[in-house]
Amino acid sequence: MAHYRHVGDVPPKRHTQHRDSQGRLYREELMGEEGFSSDSSLLYHRGVPSAIVDSQVWELPDQSRTPNHPLKPRHLRLHDLETGSDAVTGRRLVLGNNDVRIAYVVTGTEPSAHYRNTIGDECVYVEQGVGTVETVFGVLAYRAGDYVILPRATDHRWVPAEPSRLYAIEANSHIHPPKRYLSRFGQLLEHAPYCERDLHAPDEIHLVEGTDVEVLVKHRTSGGVVGSRLTYAMHPFDVVGWDGCLYPYTFNLEDFMPITGKIHQPPPVHQVFEGQNFVVCNFLPRKVDYHPLAIPVPYYHSNVDSDEVMFYVGGDYEARKGSGIDLGSISLHPGGHAHGPQPAAIEASLGAEYFEESAVMVDTFAPLELGEGGLSVEDPAYAWSWAGRGPEGGANPAVFSNS
Ligand SMILES: [Fe+2]
Repeated sequence: MAHYRHVGDVPPKRHTQHRDSQGRLYREELMGEEGFSSDSSLLYHRGVPSAIVDSQVWELPDQSRTPNHPLKPRHLRLHDLETGSDAVTGRRLVLGNNDVRIAYVVTGTEPSAHYRNTIGDECVYVEQGVGTVETVFGVLAYRAGDYVILPRATDHRWVPAEPSRLYAIEANSHIHPPKRYLSRFGQLLEHAPYCERDLHAPDEIHLVEGTDVEVLVKHRTSGGVVGSRLTYAMHPFDVVGWDGCLYPYTFNLEDFMPITGKIHQPPPVHQVFEGQNFVVCNFLPRKVDYHPLAIPVPYYHSNVDSDEVMFYVGGDYEARKGSGIDLGSISLHPGGHAHGPQPAAIEASLGAEYFEESAVMVDTFAPLELGEGGLSVEDPAYAWSWAGRGPEGGANPAVFSNS
């Protein structure tokens, strides 16, 4: 995020003495990316941000992954997934590779554990629910349709005001708007489908008193993703002011202005964010192709370099009619295997002027493997839904119920 922001009490000159009303020095912390060579912020703490009094193992939920082998398109029904109720510790792994992991949780209304992910940025899509995310930078309000972007190593906790369905995209890298939508100094350009006004960041500091506060830290070893419980001498929410270009923010689907065309537009026009070796797109309610002979649903396409994950979050997804896909479903279309609409959906789409669908897509450049949560809610009939019959023979009535 290249947009400068200033919240709370900071000194006029960086790296100079900054004191409270009793004359005590605040502790300055630079939080920055890419080794002092990219975006950063300066935070002023009441306490010492490195002061810990204990470190223990945090046993993460099952992070095991099963390769997509033998190769198949997959349909996972997330609304059938039982999860824990804590927005952080209750997550179950749905899909993942060495660049990104997708996990899902249905929260209760208790605040989550204090948490930070030191592996990469998190982009958490709020499928349902409202609440806040308290962070070391201040408080973010969230609602359905928000992407909550939490930069790597941001201390935070989720405080749902109501049970919330969260689709957590956890990167091993940073997540940012597509580079082609940015000026060389980072401003969102006129052809971008959203602009700075649509990004919502903390505008007040969030101070909490406390000692011996546990923070769950997700990190990496050579063996994979692990967790530690660090106990901080002082509450990490002790920042009296910060400024810079690195901070958490939210962006809502409704503020994405779809780019449409006379004939079918390719998925990159729907892109909203990107990370290392993956992109995030959203397909939203929009006018569709206006050529008199247009076919509004996609042509068949072979993602030779990508695995494609669609998460169906609203409306009635035209291209998947006849497949068993419903709200809360995920489809995984693996690289190197053509996919496209179920046959009946093509005819049904002719003459359509508007689609009401909403879906969040993650495309990865490395194959995705199935997490234990994803595997537990798989619809095994999906792979055969284009042919109408599978190895058992005969059409599966569950597959064609919508056609
Ligand atoms: Fe696709």
